[in-house]
Amino acid sequence: MCGIVGYVGPRPSQDILLAGLARLEYRGYDSAGVAIVDGDGRLGMRKRAGKLAVLRDDLALAPLPAGATGIGHTRWATHGGPTDGNAHPHLADDDRLAVIHNGIIENFGALKQELVSEGYTFRSETDTEVAAVLLGREYRETGDLVEAFRRTVGRLEGAFTLLAVHQDQPGLVVGARRNSPLVIGLGVGENFLGSDVAAFVEHTRNALAIGQDEIVAITADTVTVTNFDGHPVEVEPFEVTWDATAADKGGWSSFMAKEIAEEPEAVANTLRGRIHDGVVAIPELDGLDHLFRDAQRIIIVACGTAAYAGQVGKYAIEQWARVPVDVELAHEFRYRDPVIGPETLVVSISQSGETMDTLMAVKYARERGARTLSICNTQGATIPRESDAIVYTHAGPEVAVASTKAFVAQIAALELLALHIGRIRGILSSTEIAHHVRELEAVPAKIQHVLDLESERIAQLAHWMADTRSVLFLGRNVGFPIAMEGALKLKEITYIHAEGFAAGELKHGPIALIEPGQPVFVLVPSPRESPVLHAKVVSNIEEIQARGARVIAIAEEGDVAVLPSSDEVFRIPLAGPLFEPLLAVVPLHLFALGLATARGLDVDQPRNLAKSVTVE
Ligand code: G6P
Repeated sequence: MCGIVGYVGPRPSQDILLAGLARLEYRGYDSAGVAIVDGDGRLGMRKRAGKLAVLRDDLALAPLPAGATGIGHTRWATHGGPTDGNAHPHLADDDRLAVIHNGIIENFGALKQELVSEGYTFRSETDTEVAAVLLGREYRETGDLVEAFRRTVGRLEGAFTLLAVHQDQPGLVVGARRNSPLVIGLGVGENFLGSDVAAFVEHTRNALAIGQDEIVAITADTVTVTNFDGHPVEVEPFEVTWDATAADKGGWSSFMAKEIAEEPEAVANTLRGRIHDGVVAIPELDGLDHLFRDAQRIIIVACGTAAYAGQVGKYAIEQWARVPVDVELAHEFRYRDPVIGPETLVVSISQSGETMDTLMAVKYARERGARTLSICNTQGATIPRESDAIVYTHAGPEVAVASTKAFVAQIAALELLALHIGRIRGILSSTEIAHHVRELEAVPAKIQHVLDLESERIAQLAHWMADTRSVLFLGRNVGFPIAMEGALKLKEITYIHAEGFAAGELKHGPIALIEPGQPVFVLVPSPRESPVLHAKVVSNIEEIQARGARVIAIAEEGDVAVLPSSDEVFRIPLAGPLFEPLLAVVPLHLFALGLATARGLDVDQPRNLAKSVTVE
């Protein structure tokens, strides 16, 4: 939800800012802008509605004065539509200071009224411009940009990362954060700021994480971090574990295509270093056994795709560790006065680690005394920093808005966690753990097998179905969240109506939707591993086929029972019931990709969405 980049150094900043914004475009892409201060104290600013390419073309035609200090922004609109005027940066009333912002200033209405009554006028409908005008006013009073920030953030409510440059201060970028992300990149003779490390990873992998309610000032050679009260604070250094090429398309037609192809690796990397001779050992959780021994219940909080991973995790944790688990959408959990306390372990799942709904749920849980564990894919992100324990998924950078490889990595991490808790609580024997671990270790190769075997056929099916208006998905047990994930992926990137249902619920309503030709994907459980469920799902297939549905089954290799009543069958290798979701989801991800491609849509940047939703 809005990408932010800042630079100070010896090089012209425009290209550095644009390259950083290109890597942050997943956070929002309805408008973009940059502000640059040159050595003569001139402030140049350009902003355009539309994707970054529009701004880039504009700057190519009429470049800004070359300056080595700058800030850049790519927007996902909240206050005010995506127009040139509402795009960031926003200038203070005297045009000497430029501000970019990620988040929502909740009291901007009252502040704006106050400023209007003092005679200030506004040029946009955004909440951000209020911060720019306030900051400009405070700067005139103090002559110190950091002090002006301190005074300004003291007046703001809500969530914000703010960066500013002032024409009287060439060589200085100042930023502040509350509930929105900001990280520092440490170069040699140059420094960077970014919403995440992708903004600067091509220049440096040395980073510093800025804490909550802190102000940072960077020059080419210095980084100074203070809290909102002005006291210096220690910042946590970390090294980015991936390089810039990992966040490039690398010859693929889209990031999503590349990221689906990386699903085997995402799982393998998430398991790496956490399994030794058939035993699960998660180094990050050393010394934290009490969290799992003491927990009387687990609540998983997440949004979107991550919440569906959580539902698979519930099955695994309940089965292997025998702890009751609820899965809740973070925004529903946060505002319903849940019964939680020190005996509750709240596990959050988030690819970005910045989803505001999830962050607020985690903070709320902590305030109520619950223990918190974060499953997250992004180093230095806010949610893991707010949690008692962290298990990183190592899926690598995920750029496409629709999450794919992070989803399978989240399930793998949850299953590792379930085995870990099962051992600590003495539920699983070492033989049982070794058996499950062997299955988990076999998953990457099995996902690769599905990709190799079925990619082409699925793309072809999607091509034939390009004009489809609605697709339904049915699943049972762990297949149910996968059906939901299949439907979500289709909604997100193809804009067609899609619903996922529990197959057993079909007869209680959804079957009324079936009419001749209605495409229905059905996740079929293994006949060998789950014969009872298999029989029931096959009956469900027969019921919908009898009503004219076009059945597309995802079924285990060798399952012939599905053949008579299915129009298409895509195959997955045999796997234990809790590992099936990791395989069955692959054809659904490929189908969404294929259908969006067949419809000529922007697969990576679907309309109205952003990858990291940092507003509630
Ligand atoms: C947004 C994205 C979804 C994603 C969800 C959770 O809504 O559009 O694709 O699943 O956020 O994101 P997170 O980063 O918390 O996993």
